[in-house]
Amino acid sequence: MICSKAPGKILLFGEHFVVKGKPALGIAVSRYAVVCIKHGKGEFFSKQIGRIDHESKDMLLFRTIIEKASERYSKKAVEIENVDVYIDSEIPLGAGMGSSAAVSVAFTHALLSYIGVDFSLSDVNEIAFEAEKRVHYRPSGVDNTLSVYGGLLYYQSGVFKRLDLKLPGNVEIVVVDTGLKRATGEVVRSVLERYDRVPVIMSKIYEAGEEIVNKALEYIKDANMIGLGELMLMNHGLLWAIGVSCKECDEIVHEMIRQGAYGGKISGAGKGGVVIGLVDSSISSKILESIRQRGFKAFIVKPDYNGVSEIRGID
Ligand code: MEV
Repeated sequence: MICSKAPGKILLFGEHFVVKGKPALGIAVSRYAVVCIKHGKGEFFSKQIGRIDHESKDMLLFRTIIEKASERYSKKAVEIENVDVYIDSEIPLGAGMGSSAAVSVAFTHALLSYIGVDFSLSDVNEIAFEAEKRVHYRPSGVDNTLSVYGGLLYYQSGVFKRLDLKLPGNVEIVVVDTGLKRATGEVVRSVLERYDRVPVIMSKIYEAGEEIVNKALEYIKDANMIGLGELMLMNHGLLWAIGVSCKECDEIVHEMIRQGAYGGKISGAGKGGVVIGLVDSSISSKILESIRQRGFKAFIVKPDYNGVSEIRGID
């Protein structure tokens, strides 16, 4: 049996502004999807969602990856009926943490190892992106790129730059699920409508968003987490101004700051979804506890700098 694991991701800065060509900064985090493949009878099973029907939308992801791998290596990768695939993902679904991309990336990596071809990480990335494009509406490619390479990623107008930077080792990120579900496409549309109503004001907010990303790079280089936390709060304020915050989002940010976090903000589309806090590891458990006491699901992640990899020793 061949197994690969791939990380999820969060956006640190720049969501929404990126839709109008401004830069954003994402980071791969220590929540993983594991996918295993072995010779079998076409059983695709997810620990979280159960047996995957061969005609389902989830199956389309696996089918596309097999099809694209076959095209790329000019041989039939595998017949679905001749393999068993097992998926175990600890990345929350539909929370903007790249759960689908991590499964695509882990499956692509495991499949290419299983069929024994020479491959690079960029092969994995391109094949996984094909699957993401087939299953999701206009994905940017940031989720699969972060899941493949790990670390910090700067992206702007479709161009990705893996940064040779790390957050200080004592820094952790608290991820809080507001429990409010929203369709990313609809949130994006509401923001763009506001942009059309007041373009002069909105363009200034977007410029400020860009300056925040540039300053964040400087602070990360200098290991200035107090500065980085302040920028997160400013970014949260800008997201409020474009209309994507929510009462729970603000409550969580306030509580994290009260408990000593460096900063906090919405991460992703907003109007619910996920809120993140940048914290020192010495107080992360305390912050987690206080957020949970308010009834929210929350967990701690660290940056992942490795990206996708094979897991050895599983039978
Ligand atoms: C959603 O995770 C991020 C947005 O910027 C949308 C996008 O970039 O496609 C809100």
